[in-house]
Amino acid sequence: MNAVSLGAFGGPDALVFGERPDPAAPPGWVVVELRAAALNWHDVLVRNGQYDVALPRIPGADGAGVRGDTGEAVVIAPSLHWGADDRFPAPDFEILGDHTDGTYAELVAVPEGNVLAMPAGWSWAEAAALPLAGVTAYRALFTRGSLQAGETVLVLGAGSGVSTMAVALAALAGARVLVTSSSAGKIDRARELGADGGVLYSDADWVAQARELAGERGVDLVIDSVGATWPDGLATLNPGGRLVAFGATAGDVAAVPVRPFYFGQHTILGTTMGSPRDFAALLDLVGRHPSWRPVVHDVRPLARAAEAHAELERREHFGKLVLSI
Ligand SMILES: NC(=O)c1ccc[n+]([C@@H]2O[C@H](COP(=O)([O-])OP(=O)(O)OC[C@H]3O[C@@H](n4cnc5c(N)ncnc54)[C@H](OP(=O)(O)O)[C@@H]3O)[C@@H](O)[C@H]2O)c1
Repeated sequence: MNAVSLGAFGGPDALVFGERPDPAAPPGWVVVELRAAALNWHDVLVRNGQYDVALPRIPGADGAGVRGDTGEAVVIAPSLHWGADDRFPAPDFEILGDHTDGTYAELVAVPEGNVLAMPAGWSWAEAAALPLAGVTAYRALFTRGSLQAGETVLVLGAGSGVSTMAVALAALAGARVLVTSSSAGKIDRARELGADGGVLYSDADWVAQARELAGERGVDLVIDSVGATWPDGLATLNPGGRLVAFGATAGDVAAVPVRPFYFGQHTILGTTMGSPRDFAALLDLVGRHPSWRPVVHDVRPLARAAEAHAELERREHFGKLVLSI
């Protein structure tokens, strides 16, 4: 098969297109003939060597394609070996593309439980854009964040793949959505997805602006994949509010003022990826809104994966970068 693989860690050019052996499916696994794969920031971390993955490795957690044994159009759940406890993943949990070859390929082998029917009427690119960002956003908003219809959620960094998904899913569920972004254009795009408004995080007083936008009721839930923003995110919350964290795009250390945190009865919740139940609930939510689709920024052929990684790192995209296969 043709695939994009990493022979060494490095920049986008470390991703090399060429022939690789076809994957074998052990008992209980199936081979999927991929039609599209999507990029995540996670793939950049794998490429840079920030995860302890053995090389050579085919990266890629997101994929949609045709199940080899049945011919069914499927979407792939990216959490491997989550285990029986819905609260947290088992010790051998991994993201597809870490220690198991992933979706930047014509074929991928995954556990049978990780393939689910593709949402009806979606393109391959749309289906490939959903899984990792969708399940992460779903678990952050609902399973961990307990978001309810009528609450206000502030999503930090509107341009990120997970954020665009979080904005859309929260709006589908009837929440009021606010965002932060580096660009007014991305705030406008977030409005098209269902956000009510947003503020530029480059403004020194963005926390005050966000509080003003939120109005008297304030922000009930902050969705934070930025990391360094914990103190600011907490400062936007109303009493009793929650901050759900799952990323550290701008730094993995945050100093939080403790007194306002406990006087405010605030909660900080960690989350990562999502369980099989989260993934099924995500498909159920989008299935109840048949005209909704994930935002696909651009689709390129698999052979140009390195170029797509360079674009992801420039951070000029809005929505998912997809590889057609
Ligand atoms: N734990 C998990 O399960 C999990 C799963 C998925 C992703 N993640 C993490 O979540 C993060 C986002 O992933 P992704 O794939 O969606 O990344 P992405 O598409 O590359 O998005 C990164 C975005 O971060 C925003 N950003 C950067 N600095 C910021 C700041 N100082 N304040 C606010 N926003 C800032 C930017 O938003 P604007 O463009 O709007 O300025 C940028 O577009 C990454 O850290 C990733 O590792 C974790």
